[in-house]
Amino acid sequence: MTTINRRRALSGSAAVALGVPVLAACGSDDDTSATDPATSGGDEPTGEPTEEESGGAAGGEALASAADVPVGGCLVVTGAKVVVTQPTEGDFKAFSAVCTHQGCLVETSSEGEIPCPCHASRFSLEDGSPLSGPASAPLEAVEITVDGDSITRA
Ligand code: FES
Repeated sequence: MTTINRRRALSGSAAVALGVPVLAACGSDDDTSATDPATSGGDEPTGEPTEEESGGAAGGEALASAADVPVGGCLVVTGAKVVVTQPTEGDFKAFSAVCTHQGCLVETSSEGEIPCPCHASRFSLEDGSPLSGPASAPLEAVEITVDGDSITRA
């Protein structure tokens, strides 16, 4: 068991060196938001699936630093299950990171699309629409606020 933990730790470190899971450490936000009554935005039954799919996080949740989102690419915030894109410099958008095909999390990329690693679906950085692969529905939009270098859930 120690070997497995060490491997996981090492692979995590390697990934951190690549800049990928730095924000994955924010994963605990999901659990706290779901159980913390202070984060419930109100009693309004909106019926919007966006918040449910992203772990029920409330507005104002810190998602990413603008500098970490590649221009012409995307950054997955694993804990929040949100993918933040920057189709053109200074233009940020965000979507649910849950693939509409079978629910895998999409991946961080700097190659002009949002890729899903499970069955190779690709989504648009601009609007989350499916570009190729088995997914036929778009990634659900997530409203964000960009304040300087800080990107938060609206
Ligand atoms: Fe994403 Fe199948 S779950 S392509």
